[in-house]
Amino acid sequence: MPRILSGIKPTGRLHIGNYFGMMRPAIEWQDKGEALYFIADYHALTTVHDPMKLRADSRNAALDFLACGLDPAKATLFKQSDVPQVTELTWLLSVLTPMGLLERCHAYKDALARGFAPSHGLFAYPVLMAADILIYDSDIVPVGRDQKQHVEVTRDLAIKMNEVFGAHLLKLPEPSILPDLATIPGLDGQKMSKSYGNTIELFLEEKALRKKIMGIVTDSTPVESPKDPESSSIVALYRLFASTADVAQMESDFRAGGFGYGDFKKRLFAAIWEHFAPARQHRAEIENDATYVEQVLRQGAERANALADRTLSRVRKAVGLS
Ligand code: TRP
Repeated sequence: MPRILSGIKPTGRLHIGNYFGMMRPAIEWQDKGEALYFIADYHALTTVHDPMKLRADSRNAALDFLACGLDPAKATLFKQSDVPQVTELTWLLSVLTPMGLLERCHAYKDALARGFAPSHGLFAYPVLMAADILIYDSDIVPVGRDQKQHVEVTRDLAIKMNEVFGAHLLKLPEPSILPDLATIPGLDGQKMSKSYGNTIELFLEEKALRKKIMGIVTDSTPVESPKDPESSSIVALYRLFASTADVAQMESDFRAGGFGYGDFKKRLFAAIWEHFAPARQHRAEIENDATYVEQVLRQGAERANALADRTLSRVRKAVGLS
């Protein structure tokens, strides 16, 4: 059985882009192998410096995953920081990490371009990610296209460690590239992303969700005129949630004219609201259970710790620390 590993950064509430891009495929993997998923709180700390927010976002990310179908009987869910061994492996990888390798990483350059102050944590982000992956002897890493380079860095570092400290010390992981998020437009028509501030969160209150959907940016084509379904983010989003027949109906109503964007947005709202109804119900149940999430995360951490200890003691021995 392949071991599958992925992580998600708790830097805000999870949104529809996260859901289709990472969460849903990750949840599907739980039936195909031994899946391990973690809330990447150490990584979030590179940009989030508000402890209350980090704590809340981490718990909410776990709740969202469980609500959307992650089954703790099948997959292991844990918090990255409950396995502090990764920070030690990060150091051991660091001593062999060429500066040039990190200087070429897009994510660092992007973070600076978005105005984050350059920090060692941001720069070393891919080394921590490599440690995350290597410490569990992962076979497959489902990630979005934007993280593919980090998995390549992980492979480079594993190859280097194996050359210097012994063949087969670390297992080389394979990325599994998830559906491109570029196909999921945000409120402004650009790719849905936290960094563009155009996200639709999964578990908004009814009123807040309606307000967001009604706020999708459209052009000023009058109600009576025909409209182009292919260039509309309303249609693109509707395709993710509605039946083929309902999508066809919306497309033909676009072309026919006589319907305003507000009407289409209402249909989109209804489709999203209905799609997440079972997950919302499940989420409310587990959120009200004072200990459920904590217990899932604790059991996940135990499993993850056992795996991490094995790898770390192998590496400590290989490099001469023990
Ligand atoms: N960097 C990833 C992201 O921003 C999150 C992450 C951290 C991750 N460690 C990982 C993903 C290990 C896969 C494997 O999306």
